[in-house]
Amino acid sequence: MRDLGVIILAAGEGKRMKSGLPKVLHCLGGKPLLLHALKTAQSLNPKRIAVVVGHGAAEVKQACADNGISWVFQQRQFGTGHAVSCTREIFQDFSGDLLILSGDVPLISRDSLLALLRHHREHSATLTFLTAFLAQPSGYGRILRNEKEELIGIVEERDAAEPEKKIKEVNAGIYVVSTRFLYTALEELNSDNQQGEYYLPDIGRIAQRNGKIVRTVRAEDEREILGINTREELAFMEKTLQERINRKWMEAGVTLKDPQTTYIEEEVMIGEDTVIGPSTHLMGRTTIGEGCRIDGNAYLTNVRLGNRVHLKFSVVATESQIEDEAEVGPFAHLRPGTSLRRRVHIGSFVETKQAAIGEGSKANHLAYLGDVTVGRDANIGAGTIICNYDGFRKYRTIIGDRVQVGSDTTLVAPVSLGDDAYVATATTVRHDVPPGALVYNERHERVREGWTAEKRKRMEQPKN
Ligand code: UD1
Ligand code: CA
Repeated sequence: MRDLGVIILAAGEGKRMKSGLPKVLHCLGGKPLLLHALKTAQSLNPKRIAVVVGHGAAEVKQACADNGISWVFQQRQFGTGHAVSCTREIFQDFSGDLLILSGDVPLISRDSLLALLRHHREHSATLTFLTAFLAQPSGYGRILRNEKEELIGIVEERDAAEPEKKIKEVNAGIYVVSTRFLYTALEELNSDNQQGEYYLPDIGRIAQRNGKIVRTVRAEDEREILGINTREELAFMEKTLQERINRKWMEAGVTLKDPQTTYIEEEVMIGEDTVIGPSTHLMGRTTIGEGCRIDGNAYLTNVRLGNRVHLKFSVVATESQIEDEAEVGPFAHLRPGTSLRRRVHIGSFVETKQAAIGEGSKANHLAYLGDVTVGRDANIGAGTIICNYDGFRKYRTIIGDRVQVGSDTTLVAPVSLGDDAYVATATTVRHDVPPGALVYNERHERVREGWTAEKRKRMEQPKN
């Protein structure tokens, strides 16, 4: 098998996006466009990958953070043909085939690329174009064929005559080409067109003029070849990707009550018999176990859920871990570093951060639990606040096993409550409490009979 190299074109500004961000860094499925093409390219195990960058080059390189890539800088964007010619040095000692991808065509699949390569090699072609039939082909280069259906050229939208614009077969912007031919052909390109650019597809005509074998392969799923040039196209593709991912999870045994509003990023994993309600976002490296229930409106980023976890309506969680049979929500906020062991209950309007909560412990209503370790089977009453920050530093609080924290308690960190300690309601705890002890603040409760009537009389008297 001949060696394979990959070139990804990503230097363009993406004018039609109207954005300060380079186009290839706009996100699809939570990941920059370029990373989609790059990941697919890497899955083919090529000998070398060159990425051509220009606009926002530093940002683009940073977003990829991959040292396996040869970066090529195209200072000014004179067109796709010029962009490819910038990679000449990288491939000067290379003799195999080059696969050329566009950084703005993110959904192209590994299978389609393999089919393209196979076709190219089986026909001993010098150049093979991937094409597709689009109901709305505008914006794409059109494939021109003679009456024998043989390829005779590609015309860009801006250069096309009206009858050519009616052609529905388009150039996907994805090619396989023999390395030697490519770099000689690029020298013959000119910029004699509406955009004054060096068009890569023009190497087709050069190949044919030189009697080379030029083939086309039609993409099976035309949605794969769609390019992103506008925000509207980005939104449409997000929908397409979401549908694809959601279908995959439903086929794998996950119930999505409303796939239309369920947004699952590519790297997420979900176990069988999990039921997911509307408006749920599962992002980053989130993993969900089996038999979980997510009622809806959950927004989870890099969260690990065990099995049979129940997230009630409206839970926001980030970089947190929730073990089997825990219950969270409704309306709870788990911030980074939260770890809930088995059967923990976190109820409404509870916020946690850097909080390790032991098996079977509960904080069911209105609490702030920050920088805290809680043992097993403890109960944190309504309105408990951990004062973890004194305006300068953060401090940790330790709560032992089976501790009962009464409602309306403030725990002033650093402080520790020994196992089986009991905090009376409305206590401010400033000092460590030994195991099994009761802690309370001295207060006097007084009752004044008839006070309300006196107060009203005072208040209702005329001012002067
Ligand atoms: C290109 C093709 C068109 C095809 C379409 C498919 C050309 C001339 N036209 O058009 O036939 O139907 O893709 O999506 O190739 N780029 C550079 N440097 C440049 C110019 C572009 O790196 O100087 C990069 C862009 O960042 C982008 C890719 O090349 O990732 C394609 O460029 P773009 O301007 O989007 O080409 P299209 O007009 O979409
Ligand atoms: Ca494009």
